[in-house]
Amino acid sequence: MNQPLKDTADSCAAVIKKHSEVRIVSHIDADGLTAAAIMSRALERSGIEHSTTFVKQLDRGTLERVADLNVPTVFTDLGSGMLSEMPAGIDIVIADHHQIDQRDVGCDLQVRHLNPHLFGIDGSTELSGAGCAYIVAQSLGRDAGTNADLADLAIVGAVGDLQARRSGKLVGCNREILKRGRDCGVIEYKKDLSLFGKQTRQVFRLLQYSSDPYLPGITGNESASIEFLKRAGINFRGEQWKRWIDLSEDEKQKVVSMLVQHCITKKMSSYNIHRLITEVYVLAREQEGTEMRDASEYATLLNATARYGFADVGLAVCIGDREMELTRARELLVNHRKNLVNGLKFVREEGITELHHIQYFDAGSSIKDTIVGIVAGMSLTNTRNRKMPIFAFAESDDGLKVSARGTQGLIRQGLNLADALKACAAKVEGMGGGHNIAAGATIPMGAKDEFLELIDAMVGEQLAVKA
Ligand code: C5P
Ligand code: C5P
Ligand code: ZN
Repeated sequence: MNQPLKDTADSCAAVIKKHSEVRIVSHIDADGLTAAAIMSRALERSGIEHSTTFVKQLDRGTLERVADLNVPTVFTDLGSGMLSEMPAGIDIVIADHHQIDQRDVGCDLQVRHLNPHLFGIDGSTELSGAGCAYIVAQSLGRDAGTNADLADLAIVGAVGDLQARRSGKLVGCNREILKRGRDCGVIEYKKDLSLFGKQTRQVFRLLQYSSDPYLPGITGNESASIEFLKRAGINFRGEQWKRWIDLSEDEKQKVVSMLVQHCITKKMSSYNIHRLITEVYVLAREQEGTEMRDASEYATLLNATARYGFADVGLAVCIGDREMELTRARELLVNHRKNLVNGLKFVREEGITELHHIQYFDAGSSIKDTIVGIVAGMSLTNTRNRKMPIFAFAESDDGLKVSARGTQGLIRQGLNLADALKACAAKVEGMGGGHNIAAGATIPMGAKDEFLELIDAMVGEQLAVKA
């Protein structure tokens, strides 16, 4: 592991160990949940009392509450965008992978800050919030067991933030964590079909619901999915369809090669054809056929809790509840899936508007602000126009939520959505940040048109620099 990261983790751990009680504040998505769970397990093993709070984003109000409580606080998967606003007078540890505003770097001595961007490591692909928490947990674990076994949760966090997407596998620090997890027997990895649901879905549903990549002539079509599998020689087992994990190696091979052939015939881009096979991550201690066995299904299960205000349910699952809270999480998952399907349908029906350098849709109150970013990302994957980043608007309690998603090709051309959203949101009295490829903001309700004009121009400037 990168030495400066380790040294920073050591100093974070030293601050934490001074206290018998701390508070964890984390982000309401799969990465934030797994980050908090890793921290919570590590603190428990070190005998440090703690409580955990989840927030949509870190704003001044949240930081004021932290200051009022006057308890040492560990921020996971958030904090780096608000360094200059951190409350004075209490010990603060930040383990985050979001972009840092350069102006904020010289912060208070009471703030210990671990972030890959500080050491030239890309926080959007090489290390997640959960990974940052894992590195601190390793330092905490020096004299309370190694905490190395928490690597499976760190992988779920990275996969939840789509960090394996660019290369079809985890890279950089994430890969080191993966190997550590494999060495202690908690995680396995192999090349396999990338489609979602290999552990829990009947195999034809894998095809029918595939959105990443979208399978022309198959996605959204139940009978076409069943026919396709019949042609591959996959049939009923008794009354029941098999899941992907029930197929033999030969059967899997046959389906994969037929799928590749199908996609070539349908003139699908080679980018998307390549994405049919990726590295996949299996949590070795979890029961086969459950969501928790597959990192990607696990992450979606967690998103289905925290993004709907039930982070405590997701956290309980991460900590090990396989009874009541898991049942609750599965109920929430049914609802989450329905919302994603409806969200995608909304975008298809309402359409996407193109400006000069960006494209956008406005979901109003039809898509929840906490999942509009996921819908935007899925829409960009499947849209014909991958030459422009996509922006989405949704109403939220605190104003107008903006979510933005780009592509690796656009990043290579100079796009940085976190910089653009931070700057343009600030100009309309809003707040934003995130990563180069995925970022968000909250702006005042009436500021949409002005914001669109600003952001279209700024993205144009970013892309022009390297043109
Ligand atoms: O707040 P956080 O860092 O956890 O969120 C990262 C977001 O970036 C996730 O919603 C993830 O889906 C998105 N992302 C993306 N494409 C990538 C990498 C991340 O859409 N290649
Ligand atoms: O909400 P959404 O999934 O679109 O967020 C994308 C990325 O932008 C996440 O990493 C999130 O933490 C970040 N974000 C932010 N400030 C906001 C909203 C989102 O840094 N106000
Ligand atoms: Zn994250």
